[in-house]
Amino acid sequence: MKDLLTFIAESPSRFHAVDNLGRELEEAGYTRLSEARTWALETGGKYYVTRNGSALIAFRIPKADFTGFMISASHSDAPTFHIKENAQMKGPESYVRINTEGYGGMLCAPWLDRPLTVAGRVLVKAGEAIETRLVYVDRDLLLIPNVAIHMNRDVNTGMKFDKKTDVIPLMGMGEEEGAFRAILAQTAGCEPEDILGTDLYLCLRQKGLVWGAEEEFISAPRLDDLQCAYGCFRGFLKASGSGSVPLYALLDNEEVGSRTKQGADGTFLEDVIGRICAALGRDRATAVANSFMVSADNAHAVHPNHPEYHDATHRPMMNGGVVIKQGVRYATDGAAQAVFTALCRKAGVPVQHFFNRSDLAGGGTLGLIANAHVSMNTVDIGLAQLAMHSCFETAGSKDTDYLIEAMAVFYSASFWEENGRFTLE
Ligand code: CO
Repeated sequence: MKDLLTFIAESPSRFHAVDNLGRELEEAGYTRLSEARTWALETGGKYYVTRNGSALIAFRIPKADFTGFMISASHSDAPTFHIKENAQMKGPESYVRINTEGYGGMLCAPWLDRPLTVAGRVLVKAGEAIETRLVYVDRDLLLIPNVAIHMNRDVNTGMKFDKKTDVIPLMGMGEEEGAFRAILAQTAGCEPEDILGTDLYLCLRQKGLVWGAEEEFISAPRLDDLQCAYGCFRGFLKASGSGSVPLYALLDNEEVGSRTKQGADGTFLEDVIGRICAALGRDRATAVANSFMVSADNAHAVHPNHPEYHDATHRPMMNGGVVIKQGVRYATDGAAQAVFTALCRKAGVPVQHFFNRSDLAGGGTLGLIANAHVSMNTVDIGLAQLAMHSCFETAGSKDTDYLIEAMAVFYSASFWEENGRFTLE
């Protein structure tokens, strides 16, 4: 079993993350389904399906008259910079830079003065067809240099980042036109002219690490949300059988609003739920009514230098266990809170609570968005972390295991509701 930091290192883009999970599911005996074919599902069967190569849903069928769905949903994407099509830019002077646009709401400053490279997928002409190839340029290829303090004396009292200027990575000096394309083609094992389309993003070369006097902390790229994606996945694989369908969902594009075919505001989750019900002759409405969703996306830990940003009485700490996110911005209500708290007690996992400070807006989650498509009891949770949306984030070294334990118990359970009485079995 790979640990979290290895999984993150081997998942430099969302496409790699989905590919890695798919490979592990294959090894665990899961059958890959195609959305383009009819599904014949069997009792006791284990299946997974991907959409766009960047979202994945895995599930197990316990019996044809299953109770409902026990679902976790997390996201595969993270804030970064998207590489534009005509990427190579000449000048100023002999410099060669790579043109990008922002993807998601990133902290810009951490991206500067660090070795970077490119990861994602390219679509390659293969005879009459077009093939997907994952790309990770495994070398220190790019860097975004800061301006010296001598030329910008005000930088430490407030820096405004202009995305067309301040965060453009440098690749070299004097390279020929097409040099970047040639590197991509070489990595993908094709000719430059055979690359017909790309989805490529900047990624940090720095690997994740464990640190602190007593190794309290982990720092790594993309902890939001690969830490939850990984913890839910481990819990999903670890769970023993229940009368419900355990369903693991990893969705894309949360950082840009989820409104894509592979995002929480697309139809992927509802399509899969509908097809499972149809294949097994199970009534969809009653199955969904007996379902429960854990929307898992990281939460803010109290900041050591800025504790004032947290609410007075809701102050999650790293290594303090799973955080239940509550308040008007979240899907969690008292019932979902109660159900999830009971599950965590059963798992021996501590629970903390997060509310936004009342004058701060906070971020959204995919729980509410997914609920507009398939509506069910939903709790928003996360693991406490610092520096959310930095390219190198920090979390507690113990919390991933807490999430795995909680999700193993969750995925071993069935849920139903009758007139305000909630039963977990
Ligand atoms: Co997130």
